This record gives sequence, C-alpha cells and structure tokens, in this order.
Amino acid sequence: MAERIKILSKDWDKPNSWSLETYLASGGYQSLPKALKMQPQAIVDEVVKSNLRGRGGAGFPTGMKWNFVRKETMTPKYLVINADEGEPATFKDRAILEWSPHMFIEGLIIGCFALDCHLTYVYCRGEFRDGPIARCQQAIDEARAKGYIGKNILGSGFDLDIHVVSGAGAYICGEETALLESLEGRKGYPRLKPPFPANAGGGLWKSPTAVNNVETLANMPAIIEKGGEWFSSVGCAKNGGTRLFAVSGHVKKPGVYEAPMGITFLDLLNDYCGGMREGSTLKAIIPGGSSAAVMTAEEAVWASDFDTLKAKKTMAGSGGVVYLDQNTNMAHALANVMRFYAHESCGQCTPCREGTGWLSKLLDKIVSGKGEKQDIDNVHQISRQMEQKTICALADGAAMPAKSFIEKFRADFDALVKG
Ligand SMILES: Cc1cc2nc3c(=O)[nH]c(=O)nc-3n(C[C@H](O)[C@H](O)[C@H](O)COP(=O)(O)O)c2cc1C
Repeated sequence: MAERIKILSKDWDKPNSWSLETYLASGGYQSLPKALKMQPQAIVDEVVKSNLRGRGGAGFPTGMKWNFVRKETMTPKYLVINADEGEPATFKDRAILEWSPHMFIEGLIIGCFALDCHLTYVYCRGEFRDGPIARCQQAIDEARAKGYIGKNILGSGFDLDIHVVSGAGAYICGEETALLESLEGRKGYPRLKPPFPANAGGGLWKSPTAVNNVETLANMPAIIEKGGEWFSSVGCAKNGGTRLFAVSGHVKKPGVYEAPMGITFLDLLNDYCGGMREGSTLKAIIPGGSSAAVMTAEEAVWASDFDTLKAKKTMAGSGGVVYLDQNTNMAHALANVMRFYAHESCGQCTPCREGTGWLSKLLDKIVSGKGEKQDIDNVHQISRQMEQKTICALADGAAMPAKSFIEKFRADFDALVKG
C-alpha cells in the first residue's frame, strides 16, 4: 500500500496533539505569517486552484463561495463556521476540534483575512460543550495570548476576534441559513433563498457571509504552505485534498480515517478499517451521513468523491460512512433513521413536517409486524413527493434514504408485512 498522505490528522498520534506547543513543534502557525503577506485575492485564487470542496455536505467549491463574498461591496463581511455536526453517523469535525483545534483556528484566521472579515463565529452543537467546545476555546485563548488573534495580528494591521457559540441541540441549525437565524437569536428556521448567505441581504445580519464547515477551514494551512496545485493533486478530478471519513457499523476498526478524496468504499473498508467483522459480510453502505441514498455491497467499488456519487444518485455528504452486514434488516434501519428526521423537522414546510411524520409512522407500523404491502408503496410514494419541495434540504435528506432503501432492499420490507 502506498504511503498514506495525512494533512488533517498528521498530529493525532502525538502527545497533547491539541496543545499550542505540539502544533508549533510540528510546523504550525507558519502559514499564517505567509498568508498575511499575500494579497487577500491571491489567497482565494489559491483556494480556487486547490479544488477544495466544502466538507459540510453539499461539496460546494470553497474558492467560488469566497469569490462571491469578495465581490460584494457591502461591509462588514462574515465568515461563520458550521460546527454543528448533527448529521447522523458523522463525527469528524469533533475529532478536529478535540485533536487539532489549532490547525482549524489557523485556517480560520487565514480565511477571515482573505474575506476581509474581522469578527467570526464558530457555531457548535450544544452537545459539544464539554469536549470539543472546551478544546476549541482553549486553543483560541492560547492563540490570542500569542498574538495570532486580536488587534494588529503579527504586525500585519489585520484585526480579528473569534467567538464560540453553542447551539441548543437542533439538527436543523446545521442548515446554514437556520444557523444564521439561530446566531441572530431567533428560532432556527431556514430562510428562503435567494438571497444566498454569500450575497448582500442573505447572510449574517444581512451582510455577505461565507458559511463553512470546520474541516473545510482546517485545510487552509496546508493549501497556503504547499499551494493549491499540490492540494488538488492529492485528490481526484475537481475534488482536491483528503477527506476525514467517520466510519461506523460492522467493521473491524470503526473510527475517523483520513484518505484521499475519491478513494473507493471497498479500499476504505479493507485498507483502513480492517474489513468487515468476523462473521460479517457486507450488505449495504450509507456513504455520506444518513441523508444519503444507500448503496449495495456491489456498489462498494464506487469512488467516494462528490461528483461520482452525485452521478450515481447518492451523495458524498458529510463523510459519515456506515458499513452494514447481512444481519441488518434494512426496514428496521430505515425506521430508526426516520424517527430522527420526524423529530428534527422544524415544521416550517408542510411536505417535510407531514412527510417525515408519516414516513416514520408507516415504517414503525411495518417493523412492528402490523404493516401491509400498501404501506411499503406509500413510504416510497410519500418520499418521492417530498423531494425538492421545501425551503431547505432536510426533506430531501429524509426522502433519499426512504426511496433508496426500498428500491435496493425491497425484500427486507416485504418479509415484514402481511400478505
Ligand atoms: C438539514 C441540514 C443540516 C446540515 N447540517 C450541517 C452540519 O451539521 N454541519 C455542516 O457543516 N453543514 C451542515 N449542512 C450543510 C450547510 O447547510 C452548508 O452547506 C455548509 O455548512 C457549508 O459549508 P461548506 O461549504 O464548507 O461545506 C446541513 C444542511 C442541511 C440541509
């Protein structure tokens, strides 16, 4: 096996990997002075070249988003960090915040400089309070004491303040416009778009705002150090760099693994996770958090990048990968997932509020043994009617698994119903 490239997890096996001391000893905070001497637009150009795609779920090109913000004339501008990490099966941002918070903070300062942003918020899910939030706050305090945050950073004339904000545990607050509503002190209801957050009128307090995921920003020190072209060469076409895969399910070694963008699900399973557990054979793969359409074992040869999976009608999403074995009844798995969406729908849009509720009720009926064949068809039909009809993508994220679980594993559902 070729040597593994590690960008984000390179310090994780070092003692106190989260401390400033460890980060400095491994070459940390060397990209910051370099970036502060560059023209802000030159930083964005490097990010465009890097083919970095947002790691929060949608895979939007980060350089393009930053150019949208830069083109706006309205000030102030904001870069807001999405550390909500609510997608089921996803636990890689917490790994960054706990084990390499300084890499993320350095990337965040560089990003703010590139966007001419002087005040930034890291919006964390409330459940992160004791571990990730504490580590992130500690890193911010250490960086401030060193002069990396505050007034006139490293003599550059650039001022920046960073605030960590804790959410209250709602999945919907990970959707970027609901997150902005929540930050502004209101209930986390997604906003109608356009205007998009990057444009005047659509962002934080109506200012142009880039909302970016934690992992997205943690890549900045490497992009500045080694250049956008190098970063792009690490991944695959139009998908630069590595990605943190949060792997769970019936594998020998679940965990967070860093692998090049585009690695196949089979290689991720065998080369990184030690294969399936003793006695387990692969039956299904959830490729990018529970909102992604499910894959069969035969489809494990697919590449994991954003474009391949979109073409295959599923998604790379948040990088949460679940490998399921032959003992998994897919109807039970779907019923479990759907209880989550029914609980977390904000209720603003009728197709989502009613749709997730009915999907959950019907699936619970099916797995309790009281279902009929018609209930399976109804689940499929309701999910189709929820697609692309709502203000945000939560409804699509519930519909995609519902539709695909039935289409690819119908026998598991049929076996549970009468008649
Ligand atoms: C229901 C819902 C939940 C989301 N949850 C998260 C989340 O927890 N973390 C995240 O980074 N993005 C989440 N997203 C995606 C964000 O809306 C947004 O695309 C992302 O923060 C942009 O950052 P990126 O371009 O760096 O990926 C969610 C989207 C939806 C529709």
